[in-house]
Amino acid sequence: MSLINDLQWRYAVKAMNGKTVPQEKIDYILEAARLAPSSSGLQPYEVFVITNKELQEKIKPIAFDQNQIVDASHVLVFAAWDNYTLERIETVFQATLQARNLPSDTMDAYKARLWGLYEPLGDAWHANHAAKQAYIAFGMAIAAAAEQKVDATPMEGFDAEALDQLLQLDQKGLKSALVLTLGYRDESNDWLVNMKKVRTPKDQFVTELA
Ligand SMILES: Cc1cc2nc3c(=O)[nH]c(=O)nc-3n(C[C@H](O)[C@H](O)[C@H](O)COP(=O)(O)O)c2cc1C
Repeated sequence: MSLINDLQWRYAVKAMNGKTVPQEKIDYILEAARLAPSSSGLQPYEVFVITNKELQEKIKPIAFDQNQIVDASHVLVFAAWDNYTLERIETVFQATLQARNLPSDTMDAYKARLWGLYEPLGDAWHANHAAKQAYIAFGMAIAAAAEQKVDATPMEGFDAEALDQLLQLDQKGLKSALVLTLGYRDESNDWLVNMKKVRTPKDQFVTELA
């Protein structure tokens, strides 16, 4: 039950105390994100780790002035591919085949089927699909942070286009999808710290079709 206890402990922290999270805990959280599953194993996202206070100050107004951006120890930006291309898919598949010592044409039929599905759907669908994959890694990072007793605030509350410009993500073929601030809760200033966790009751959440 320890994962459940960790998930009960965590909450979306509204005030952080500025203390630094040790590097090994950050590495652990990033590794959990890296190990996330993704559709066709493409991992169409990257994580930017920001510890530069000046940069954090620049991000704060872009993130609707949320204080956690500057009071966090680390700000993670999950950025997803802005589209799928045959080249991007090919690169991932070739790396997989190389790692597994398999012939380079092993995934050709699968790749052709996948591209046949993805190509007509267009860049907007691609970017949205890639961002959805980033959410899975994001969830893993949130759980790993809780396990490490590191506080985190998941954030969609930011102007993605402005953040893309600031971090020059368009030049890398990426779009910011999510922000995760990591740090430690400021118990005396966080209005949410002692609030009950509220979730949909299990009988409304789970339908058993036996
Ligand atoms: C994708 C996503 C985006 C969120 N964006 C923000 C945000 O911008 N700012 C914030 O303070 N909380 C944000 N939250 C936190 C949610 O409001 C919070 O997770 C939810 O109310 C459940 O509460 P808990 O996480 O404290 O248990 C976000 C959560 C998720 C999963």
